[in-house]
Amino acid sequence: MKISQIFLLVSTLLFIFGFSSAQAQVDIKIPFTYAKGQMLFDKNCSSCHGVDLNGSDMGPPLLHPYYKPSHHGDKAFYKAALKGARAHHWKFGDMPAVKGMTKEKMKSIIPYVRYFQKQKKLY
Ligand code: HEC
Repeated sequence: MKISQIFLLVSTLLFIFGFSSAQAQVDIKIPFTYAKGQMLFDKNCSSCHGVDLNGSDMGPPLLHPYYKPSHHGDKAFYKAALKGARAHHWKFGDMPAVKGMTKEKMKSIIPYVRYFQKQKKLY
């Protein structure tokens, strides 16, 4: 295979892969300001709360009315991420403190979650 053919193949694959993964991800447009929060959320929270915040078999949807600011304010978010949370609303078990999580990282994650909640008309 010639170099130019390899190049074409790789860029085609990148295009298809990039396109489909963007599709599979979230269905709302996330402004660049929240990119860091999204990246950190996807890395640290999405395994249980889902990339689209709709939950998984390991954790509840953060788009549930329980989690709007009037019910679970930002303090509850810091506490859950840094210290963990006791199971009380659901049957998933306790949420463990998230390894490597810091207040600083949560400062990016929380606005991303709130933006997502607003786009989904949770509040
Ligand atoms: C290992 C799975 C897991 C991970 C990872 C995880 N959570 Fe949770 N989270 C849970 C479960 C389970 C609950 C539900 C507890 C209950 O029954 O109310 C929960 C509850 C919460 C709550 C509500 C806490 C309360 O006071 O009721 C918040 C806020 C939250 N998670 C945010 C996050 C954020 C932000 C991250 C990432 C930094 C994260 N979670 C990562 C499993 C997880």
